[in-house]
Amino acid sequence: MTARSSRNPAPRVSDEFLGFTGSVHYDRRLWKHDIAGSIAHVHALAHAGVLTKGEKDDLISGLREVARECARGTAVFDPRLEDVHMNIERMLTDRVGDVGAKLHTGRSRNDQVALDMRLMTRESLVGVMAEVVALHDIILRKACEAGGAVLPGYTHLQHAQPVLLSHHLLAHFWRLRRDFQRMADCYARVNVSPLGAGALAGTAFGIDRDIPAGLLKMGGVTENSIDSVSDRDFVAESVFALSLLMVHLSSLCEELVLWSSQEFRFVKLPKDLSSGSSMMPQKRNPDIPELVRGKAGRAIGHLVAILTVLKSLPLAYNRDLQEDKENLFDVFDTVGASLHALTHFLAEAEFDTVRMRESAEVGLMTATDLADLLTTRGIPFRTAHGIVQHVSEQSGGDPRNFKRLAVEAASEHGVALAGSDLDALDLDNSISRRDSYGGTSRVSVDIQAGEAAVALSGEKKELTGLRRQLAAVDDLVTG
Ligand code: ARG
Repeated sequence: MTARSSRNPAPRVSDEFLGFTGSVHYDRRLWKHDIAGSIAHVHALAHAGVLTKGEKDDLISGLREVARECARGTAVFDPRLEDVHMNIERMLTDRVGDVGAKLHTGRSRNDQVALDMRLMTRESLVGVMAEVVALHDIILRKACEAGGAVLPGYTHLQHAQPVLLSHHLLAHFWRLRRDFQRMADCYARVNVSPLGAGALAGTAFGIDRDIPAGLLKMGGVTENSIDSVSDRDFVAESVFALSLLMVHLSSLCEELVLWSSQEFRFVKLPKDLSSGSSMMPQKRNPDIPELVRGKAGRAIGHLVAILTVLKSLPLAYNRDLQEDKENLFDVFDTVGASLHALTHFLAEAEFDTVRMRESAEVGLMTATDLADLLTTRGIPFRTAHGIVQHVSEQSGGDPRNFKRLAVEAASEHGVALAGSDLDALDLDNSISRRDSYGGTSRVSVDIQAGEAAVALSGEKKELTGLRRQLAAVDDLVTG
């Protein structure tokens, strides 16, 4: 057989058909994972005696040559060859001749693409996890810098109780911490090898499936060949983890948008990371938080798309599954870019803690402390709540009126309040009394910040371990 006849032929189909069914214009970004998977497969074929040592070496060096061209950007992908897999096999055969035609022995594009997607997903998850760690670093730094700064705490976006700014910032830390953990958990299910499943029924070439899995530093192999080629749970759950992360970022961004408004003025927009208006010279806009908030919708859209593609698919592989890629790729791109921009924005943003305290003085935010005080003097809480509610309404929102009326109302209920008792209504005292674990007192928040620092250094260690697994792909491809 000549080198020419062993090339995978360009299919004899119409351009219109290929224009609709082809995927190489977007799945070419899988080239590195595809080549690493092929090299791992070559090792398994050689071990099974399907390839001689010489054939194995030729195939591997040919695949590495193709990889170098892809990395340089000089590889030419032919849309008539449909997808990245057919293109790379053709590039290989063009370089190594007949032996290239042996590469696909015991393998189908169905297990091949499932492997490529898993390798790409695990790498991209680690990339996003690293971005979360960078954001964690900034949030923790800002929380520590905030010291005893007081923020009005909100429920229903109404002034509720005073809290420390550091406490509020750390609330965002723990949300993102769960996102990190969710991605790490997801990574373990992504990181299993479907190679050897063939088209759906397995392979008859005596291939040891643990060989490619081990070379690629995957955690194991999939259990069922039919499931292996049809399973895209790992795509759906990755997109879910990323969508929820975007929901959390969007919520943080909503606060930044509100806080930078004239009504709040809690945050100053960094000049080089916000735009002016084309018409109104006095304006600055919180573009980055707004865009991240908007892009959350895009991620959620992809999640709905992927679940809708998967629902009702009969086993095993169906071409519908090709539709997993653009959704997944775009979610990773969107989330990575959003995290990167937001981290930079937050690092540069300045909190106006004087203005926050001024705002916290408004709205009788320590009314609950008065009810608590009456409760410690023997008035049942529900009754105390009613008394304070009445006093609040009568006071017209003025703190001095509030204190005077409080003393009168308490005495009507047989409780004498001295001036010093009313110190409980000071913002700082209100905060320091809430010293429960996870509460807003300075002591509790310091403990919490310590725990956040421990969590963060654990995340950094975890990333180092995961990156070692990812390096297997580059090692195989570069040799
Ligand atoms: N481009 C295809 C995909 O992404 C690869 C698998 C094609 N398999 C097949 N039997 N046509 O799903």
